[in-house]
Amino acid sequence: MRILVVGGGGREHALCWAIAASPLCTKLFCAPGNAGIAQVAECVEVGAEDIPGQVDLAQREKIDFVVIGPDAPLVAGMADAFAAAGIKVFGPSKDAARLEGSKSFTKALCRQHGIPTADYERFTDLAAAEAYIRRQGAPIVVKADGLAAGKGVIVAETVEQALEAARDMLAGNRFGAAGAAVVIEEFMEGEEVSLFALSDGEHVLPLVGAQDHKRAFDGDKGPNTGGMGAYSPVPILDAAMFERAMAEIVRPTVKAMKEAGTPFRGVLYAGLMIGPSGPRLVEYNCRFGDPECQVLMMRLRSDIVPALMACADGGLKHFDLRWTNDAALTVILATKGYPDGYAKGSEIRGLDAAAKVEGVEIFHAGTKADGSRILANGGRVLNVTAVAPTVREARERAYRAVDLIDWPEGFCRRDIAWRAVVPQS
Ligand code: AMP
Ligand code: GLY
Repeated sequence: MRILVVGGGGREHALCWAIAASPLCTKLFCAPGNAGIAQVAECVEVGAEDIPGQVDLAQREKIDFVVIGPDAPLVAGMADAFAAAGIKVFGPSKDAARLEGSKSFTKALCRQHGIPTADYERFTDLAAAEAYIRRQGAPIVVKADGLAAGKGVIVAETVEQALEAARDMLAGNRFGAAGAAVVIEEFMEGEEVSLFALSDGEHVLPLVGAQDHKRAFDGDKGPNTGGMGAYSPVPILDAAMFERAMAEIVRPTVKAMKEAGTPFRGVLYAGLMIGPSGPRLVEYNCRFGDPECQVLMMRLRSDIVPALMACADGGLKHFDLRWTNDAALTVILATKGYPDGYAKGSEIRGLDAAAKVEGVEIFHAGTKADGSRILANGGRVLNVTAVAPTVREARERAYRAVDLIDWPEGFCRRDIAWRAVVPQS
């Protein structure tokens, strides 16, 4: 089979790495890809959000199966465009991707089906939103309804902050159309984890859980980012908690989507808050997490390609995937200044030595080749990923590799998986 992966980040490198290992894959393309992906796939300069460009590429290269990595093209209907062109695709339709693309859609679905999540209201009118915030008090969470590149959520500690966020979105046009409606919801206490499951629209195949680290700096300080590191498995998401989340949240969602005539086919990424009453939904994403995908692919023992195809074809019911009991952990190296301003083009050295550390794979997120040199080409640049029998050992391996990378312009967090690794005294 000739396979095309859409995207060019660390998630897509991990997907390409896993897909390239499948005996079913005879030729792998990635668009746009990056310098690391180029080691396992032929990269083509077509933007991840360029729907006609990606369909053209797939037709030209006689692609049999497309795997869409990022959320924006899914929410914009890229899977529908491939389907209309008669090309098999992994990733939900535009209607199903509303689970990520519209927070109020998901909140309404939860309310209708009794799926545990934060209590909320939706507003387009600023005065009504302000009155609601004053009535509820703080802490309270204000969210742009649409996709806002991960920046549309304000966890307000004071009523003033919440009012300002609502004004920014509803009157200040801060997130454009994505912020023309807001969801204002109850602040949930607890520990956040991510759970992943495949669906063919009817059946659900649970994958595993992971925990991301959203803040830029150690100790969960600094601005929110796309994710600075992840690990799997997560102690708090034990087998019993996982099954509760599947039974109370994920399966009812898949059933509701099917009944609504908009079946969800793809990977459902449930952001959960594990609190005193059990798991509650924070949000859904309609694709793999980045960097969570990197640790998932490192733990997966089975061929991923038939499982992804079964999401498109149906037939997930009889599917099983094998996972290693080992832990996997990834550390993100980002350009100094990320997530705000940062420079591109600095050189990264030492990658070969780092990749030789036992159990380590280095996935590229934002890199560009310049002859034999590797240059930084984004905010999140490298994902140094390791497997080992325990989270602690995976962490040691990953940081041993990180320390072999010579890139003064980069930085990373030093405390990935701190919740799972108790400091030794
Ligand atoms: P989201 O984009 O919806 O995942 O929100 C981004 C982050 O904001 C989440 O990962 C949580 O850390 C936090 N968050 C969102 N909603 C809530 C909530 N209702 N209570 C507490 N924290 C929240
Ligand atoms: N790691 C967070 C995300 O992929 O949205």
